[in-house]
Formats: sequence, C-alpha cells, structure tokens
Amino acid sequence: MTSSEAAVGLFRARFGGEPEFIVRSPGRVNLIGEHTDYNDGFVLPMAIEQSTWVALRSSDDRTVRLSSIGHPDAEFDLDALTRGNDGWAEYVKGIAWAIGAEPLRGWEGAFATSIPIGAGLSSSAALGIASALAFTVVSGEPWRPVEAALAAQRVENDWMGLGSGIMDQLIIATAKAGHATLIDCRSLDLAPTALPDDMDVVILDTGTRRQLVGSEYDDRRNACERVAKAAHVVALRDLSIVDLEAMTGKISDDDLRRARHVVTENARTIEAAAALDTGDVRKIGELMDDAHRSIRDDFEASSSALDLMVEIASDLEGCLGARMTGGGFGGCAVALVRGEKTARFVEEITRRYEAVSDNEAKVYVTRAAAGASIDSIGDPIE
Ligand code: GLA
Repeated sequence: MTSSEAAVGLFRARFGGEPEFIVRSPGRVNLIGEHTDYNDGFVLPMAIEQSTWVALRSSDDRTVRLSSIGHPDAEFDLDALTRGNDGWAEYVKGIAWAIGAEPLRGWEGAFATSIPIGAGLSSSAALGIASALAFTVVSGEPWRPVEAALAAQRVENDWMGLGSGIMDQLIIATAKAGHATLIDCRSLDLAPTALPDDMDVVILDTGTRRQLVGSEYDDRRNACERVAKAAHVVALRDLSIVDLEAMTGKISDDDLRRARHVVTENARTIEAAAALDTGDVRKIGELMDDAHRSIRDDFEASSSALDLMVEIASDLEGCLGARMTGGGFGGCAVALVRGEKTARFVEEITRRYEAVSDNEAKVYVTRAAAGASIDSIGDPIE
C-alpha cells in the first residue's frame, strides 16, 4: 500500500465517508550548501519522492481533528490556540497560529508518510507545509508557497523552539519536478535547474539518528553569529575568505573553522549550480566531495557513520561525488551516481556498509519531485 492509500484508508476508518482533498508534501535532499541558510547564504536542494500525505475534509465548525498512523489522535480549536504537548500535531496547530487563525476553517485529516523520520530528509518541514496547504485549501485561500514556507519556519523556531533556516520549508513548498533549486537565502530568489537524465541522486541512510536534537545545531549557529558580529557584518554571507583570514587570532580557532566552512560552502554552492547549468556533473561531484571534507573537518557536523558511508560511496564505480546531507550528526548522505552504474552501486554500498557497521543501510534512488500539491480524489496518486 502506498502512503497516499494509507492516508485515505485511515481517513475512512477514523472519520467515515470520503476525503475531499489529498495533500502531498515531499521531503527534501540537499545536494550542496549545508549550514549556509541561516547565514543568509546559498543552498541547492531538491524535493524527493518520499512524501507526507493528508486525506482531508473541511468541517462546519472551527475544530481541527487529526489522525496519523502510529500516533495518538489529536484535536484543537481554532479559537483557542495554545502550545501544548501534542507531539506531531503541534506542527499543525502552530501553522494555524503562524498564518493567523481568523479566516481559517476547521477540518478532519488523516496523515501518513513515507519520509523516514529524523533522517535529515525534512519530515517535520514536510508536515508543516502539508498543514499549511491543508488549511489553505479548506479555507478557500490562495496558495502562496513562499509565505507558507516562512510561516512553517516560524512554527519550527517560535512554536516548537527549534533552530532552523528557511531551506527545507522553501524547497518543499516551491520545488520544480526534475530540478534542483539554487536558493539565495537572503533574497529568497529561486533558480531551478534541470538535473541531467544520465545521473541518479542516491540517498544513503546510515541508520543512525542524531542525539540531543537541536543542541549541536544551536551551537554551530551561535558560532556563526559570533563571527559575523566580530566582523561587523549582518551574516557570514557578507564575508570573503580573505576577510575571514584577516580575523585569524582575533576569534577562536574553532569559530574560525566554523566560519571557514560557511564561507567556502557558499562559493562551492554557487559553483555547483553553475556546473549543473552546463551539465558538468563531474564538477558537481568534486564540489560535493570538497563539501563533505569541509563539514567534517571545519564545521564538525558529520559523524563516524556518515564519514564511513561517504567513504564507501566515493570508492564505488560510477560515483561522481558524495557527502552528508541535512543538519548532520547522523542521518543521511547523498551521492550522485552515473545512471548506468546505479543498480550495482546500490547493491555494493549496502553490502559494504553493513559488513563494517552495526547499523542497517537504507538506500533510496530518488527523482526530483515537485513541491507540495493537492490531488483531488480520483486523480492518480503516488
Ligand atoms: C536543517 C535545518 C535547515 C538547514 C540544515 C543544514 O535541515 O532545518 O534549515 O540549516 O539543517 O544545512
């Protein structure tokens, strides 16, 4: 059964009758540009096929009733939005708060997802954007993807209390099928570029999950902000490598290395987008390899499992480049693989990783999906 079918099945069982709409909200994988979004920098992500689905129906009152596979049911009143401990349902409630509850209608919705949770593929941002689209469609409001992304980021930051930049929400809301998008996280300019057909994007889940969610992330973010402040600039985006080197001795060695990752990563990301434009996949691969070394050695947001996965991937035939992806400290790596070598690559990487690791590898060959969308019942789904 697909996740969309699971959502519809749950809807029928829990609420009775048929849903009016199906919302699809994809996960994302970032090809390059890590820990740059909250420094006003550049990222190059794409949406993936793994998605969160909501089967829903508007209601006549102002209550939102939610059901999700593997979680307790939840409900809340649009006229009494208070932060609680409703786990995943807090994201839905937070969205109503962030977009402003007044014009919204209540609804009943059943959720199912094929995005691995906590793997660095943005399952929570997908939930936020799914909820924004659900509120929009039942309330007859126009869909404004960039505004929805900003609202979902506010939920993450101010309702859930978790640091995050704008990358995940923005790509999930705006992605173009078959394309990766260069995002300027200061201007929010979006430049989609088609991915070549002869290359696959392969997601490599190490089977490890980061512990102490948020604390390392905040630590890195604080280091970046300290350096920007010491340099009297708004964000690290405004520093060149020459500016940064001139700060040697004036800031701590650790802070210097964190900032060096961000400054060089911005340059690599712009270069990778240009290489994608000209179809130079070899160059993108090289930049991904450099990006992994930078985040491993300078930013120190990788992990031994991620380094192992990347090392094995890089050794395999057909691999153009590989790096950790997402927040880091566990979760997934991403590799670019020559299409004709993908089947063999998938087989070999699983075997070799599991031969030396206690964790199980999960490998997903994925296409670049479109951003969140609505399917009427009866349309082909998933
Ligand atoms: C997480 C955050 C993003 C971004 C990445 C690192 O996924 O949600 O905003 O900062 O980490 O690039």
